[in-house]
Order: sequence, then C-alpha cells, then structure tokens
Amino acid sequence: MYYPEEVIEEIRQKNDIVDVISGYVRMQKKGASYFGLCPFHNEKTSSFSVSPHKQMYYCFGCGAGGNVFTFIMNYENFTFAEAVKMLADRAGVPLPELEYNEETKKKESRRATLLEINKEAAKYFFYQLRSKHGQTGYEYLRKRQLSEETMKGFGLGYSNKTSNDLYLYLKKKGYDDELLKAAGLVSYSEKIGMCDKFWNRVMFPIQDINHRVIGFGGRVMGDGEPKYLNSPETEVFDKSRNLYGLNFARTSRKNNMILCEGYMDVIAMHQAGFNQAVASLGTAFTSGQANLLRRYTEQVLLSYDSDGAGTKAALRAIGILREVGLTGKVINLEPYKDPDEFIKNLGKEAFEKRMEEAENSFFFELRILQREFNLADPEGKTRFHNEIARKLCNFTEEVERENYIEAVAEKYHIGFENLRKLVSSYAAKTGLVKETARPKSGIQSREKKEEPGSRARKVLFTWLIEEPKAYPIVKKYIVASDFIQELYVKVAEKLFAQLEEGAMNPAGIISMFSDEKEQREVADLFNTKLEALETKQDREKAFRDIIIRVKECSYQYYTERMGRDVTALDKVLAGKRALEELKKAHISLE
Ligand code: CTP
Ligand code: MN
Repeated sequence: MYYPEEVIEEIRQKNDIVDVISGYVRMQKKGASYFGLCPFHNEKTSSFSVSPHKQMYYCFGCGAGGNVFTFIMNYENFTFAEAVKMLADRAGVPLPELEYNEETKKKESRRATLLEINKEAAKYFFYQLRSKHGQTGYEYLRKRQLSEETMKGFGLGYSNKTSNDLYLYLKKKGYDDELLKAAGLVSYSEKIGMCDKFWNRVMFPIQDINHRVIGFGGRVMGDGEPKYLNSPETEVFDKSRNLYGLNFARTSRKNNMILCEGYMDVIAMHQAGFNQAVASLGTAFTSGQANLLRRYTEQVLLSYDSDGAGTKAALRAIGILREVGLTGKVINLEPYKDPDEFIKNLGKEAFEKRMEEAENSFFFELRILQREFNLADPEGKTRFHNEIARKLCNFTEEVERENYIEAVAEKYHIGFENLRKLVSSYAAKTGLVKETARPKSGIQSREKKEEPGSRARKVLFTWLIEEPKAYPIVKKYIVASDFIQELYVKVAEKLFAQLEEGAMNPAGIISMFSDEKEQREVADLFNTKLEALETKQDREKAFRDIIIRVKECSYQYYTERMGRDVTALDKVLAGKRALEELKKAHISLE
C-alpha cells in the first residue's frame, strides 16, 4: 500500500458510507440500517444493507460486502488506489504525493498517459470520419444502417489511408515514441520508420466500464484481410477483463445480459434497444469476463453466430458461465448468421421473441452432441444415452440433477428410472463430479465448503462487532490464534487491539487489507447473520456455545500440529485449560 494508514482512515471517515452509496443505490431506512436493491446482483427484493453504525455494506443475497472503498472498487471497477483517489477528491482530503513510492507513482502516471493517448486517438478518428477523408468510412457505416446517434454513442471513427498521420498528430501533442508504441497505436519498421497500426479502417473504440478508451478494433470496409484488426494488449488494455459495450450494458437494468461475438452485433443490438448486449474483444470469452458479467446479472443469453464456429464458441462459453455460477441460454438466430443480420431482416420484436424462446444451455449442448450419434442404430443410441448420463453427473445438487433427469428423459424418450439408474452407475464409477470452485472475487457461492468451525468464528466476530461489551468475556478464553485461518487471525489481532483501546472500528480494519478478495472476506466476517434469540438465557447459552466451539476447534487444530509447529504445544495446553474452565463457567451477558 502506498498511502499511510492514517490517510486512508481519514478519507474513509470523511466519506460517510450512507452518503456515498445513496449516490448509486436508492435506499430506505429500516431500523438501524438502510436497505436497497443490490447493485451487484439482480434482485427484486432489497437484501442490500448499509449500516451507518458499522460504516459497512452487506448483501444478504449475494454476499457482496465491505466498506466505502470496497464499494467504489466494485461498483466502478477501480483498483484500491483509484478508489482512494476518488474518495479523497470527494471529501477534499489532499493526498500526500510523496508517500507514493516512486515505482508506483511512475506506473500510475504512465497508465494515465496511456489512457490519455487512447482518448486523443479516439477523438482524432472520430473527427476523421466526419471529414472529407473519412467519407468512405461514413458511408460504409451508414450502409450498415447505423444512425448518426448510434455512431456518436459508440464514438465510431475512421483511420486515414496515410500510414502515419495519427503518429504525427500525437507526436505534435507531445507524446514520446515509446509511449505511443506502448499504447499499441504505432509501430516502428526499418523501411518506413514510425507507422500507424490502423489505416483505412472504420474504428471501434473499446471502452472500459468507466467509458475510458482502452483500445481499438478496426474493420476493413468491404472484403480484405484481416477483417478486423485489434489493438494489442497493453498496460491499460486487458482483453480478458473487459467487454465491448459493458459501459452501457451495466446500467441497462434488464434482467439479463446478451453476449454476442462481434462489435457490430453489439452496436446493432443497442440501436434496436437491447442495450444489455456485450461482446468479447476479438478473443474467446474468458472466465474473467464471466466474472465481470456476474456482477450485473444471473442470466446470460448467448447470441453467437449460428455457424459451426459460433456453435463451438457458444459451447465453450456455456461451460465458462456455468463455472462462475451463471445460467446461460442460447438464442436461435436461424436462418441468419448473427444478431446484426437477424435484426436487420426480422426486426426487434422477432428478436425479443427469440429471446423468450432461448434454449436452456444444457439442452443446447445435448442437441449439438446428438449430431455425433446415429440414433437409428441401437448402439449409437446407447452411446448417446450413456453420454447424456455422464453429463448429468455434472449436476452435483440433487434436486437440480433430478429435475434434469426428468426433463431429459421426457425430451429424449428414455425411461425415467432407466436414465436415473444409468446416472447412478456413472456416479458410482466416477464419483459425482465436484462442483468447480467458484472464483473468490465477485459474488460468493452460498454453499461454499468451509473449514470446520469457521462459521462459529465468523459468528463470534460479528457478535463482537454488534456487542463490543462482550469483549471482556471473550478475552478471558479466546486469543487471536484461536481463529486459526491466517486471515481470521490477522483480523482478530486488529479487532482485539481496537477493543482493548475501546475504539472499535471494523470498517477501518477492512481497508488495512489492500487485496480486494481479502477485503471482501473480512467484510463477510463482520456480517454473518446472527440467529434472533429472544431471551437472555438463550442468548447466553448461544454465546457460550460459540466460544466453546471456537476454542475446541482451535484445540483440535493445534493438537494435530504438535511436532510440526513449535508453538502448538503451548496453545494446546492453554486451550485445554480454557476449555475446562469454560465448561464450568457461567457466562453472563450483562
Ligand atoms: N474478429 C477479429 N479479427 C478477425 C475477425 C473477427 O478480431 N479477423 C473479432 C471481432 O471482434 C469481430 C468478432 O470477432 O467483431 C466477430 O467476427 P465476425 O463474426 O467475423 O464479424 P462480425 O461481427 O459479423 O462483423 P461484420 O458484421 O462487420 O462482418
Ligand atoms: Mn456480422
């Protein structure tokens, strides 16, 4: 981290979380907290809560949570440093330039310059398209039925026929050759010297979710190879973590996202009102992009080309979506090649209808799979059924698997019991395929496998936050190392130190971790759902049980480590003593 902790803390304190989040989410006060619709997943009832007291937010639906910095990082897709900067500006806290370490400072200002160069280039292309030189480009786009408004919205432009005019233009603006090369806009060759990457193409600026231009795609007008030329990956252009059109799609407030293959598809869709359309960036769809989508939706409608390559790409994308827990459905575009052509020919109502009829991605997979088998031949049919059973094993959740078995049996005229037996025999042979671990960032899986006792540890954290006066009791029996997991131990150390001083500040603890994933986990520790207990007796019993559970797990953990960890023996002995005392003790929460 490059800002001193005190500065971070000052910025955090001067940006009241309710104030900041109110700028993004409409909320209502209920009890001590504010509630609204979660901006990180799609929902109809408000499970997103912001606590002015804790200065934290938490979504009971998807598990997103954190302090004011994490909110801005997640919402704006900012790095921690960018979120700090934004909130410092907002509250008028001067950021100490000097505290930046030199290397980071260089990196940040280099990034900013690269973004500036991209922006200048986009402006230049935009201007060229509307000048005399750009006439062919302009006509090309008009011929493709793009309105002036659409062209403006997406900032479309044109790169001239001359091979270095952008270079000369940017050079005149004062940018170094090295930076221009690093931005991916020019290259050097012995023969011609500095040379533009793009010429005589219509230009599609690629923007990140904050509308900053990070790269370009350029299309030849008419036939020619390559059809599209794209900026290379640069320090500001990570193709696996951005999606074309997402800067608009993310605020579309539709209950799905439409994933297309091409830039023109996205533009045509937006023009027709489907402003939730996005596309990958001239590369195959990645899990980073799936995670990005998961922030905004649960359902992705695939609108890939209807040819062989498109089908293959769709199958790949379905797998990736499933891995991050998104449901995919496939839109049938037949008899047209892609959504752009479909809309041009059949219009938006017809497309809407196809959206409604989009096929469940599992059925889509089976339909494609079926082509490989000759169902007229009993042997082919058997192999097909076996393959189906094998695929059904991928549903590790029983209810879901049963539902699919039933649906597939009906659709393919297989006896339900027979198919079920087949699935069981496969499962017995290979074991039910384990659910792929969901990536840690983004929304957490509810049914994530947890370490033994980790729920008790979380409850204890949350309890302490809600009721700091219980700390003197906790500290009699529990020490930070009882929290076992490395992150938990660190949090316990910090929280206990604050409680010792009588200055509890959980939101401040979150920003002591600069890694976004850790921040999220810490927020989770402070926001565990506590059981509502009516009587004092019940509460005391629950509290005692939790302390015992935490201590027992720790005792067991360190017992297993004796001989390997020199400090384990001490912890075990202390643990044993505490446990004996605890079992006798009456715990009072007065
Ligand atoms: N693409 C690419 N390089 C190519 C061809 C395609 O990067 N040589 C990427 C582009 O991002 C393009 C997408 O793949 O938008 C889909 O390609 P394709 O289906 O061939 O193009 P369309 O989107 O249909 O483009 P158009 O309608 O302009 O022909
Ligand atoms: Mn097309």
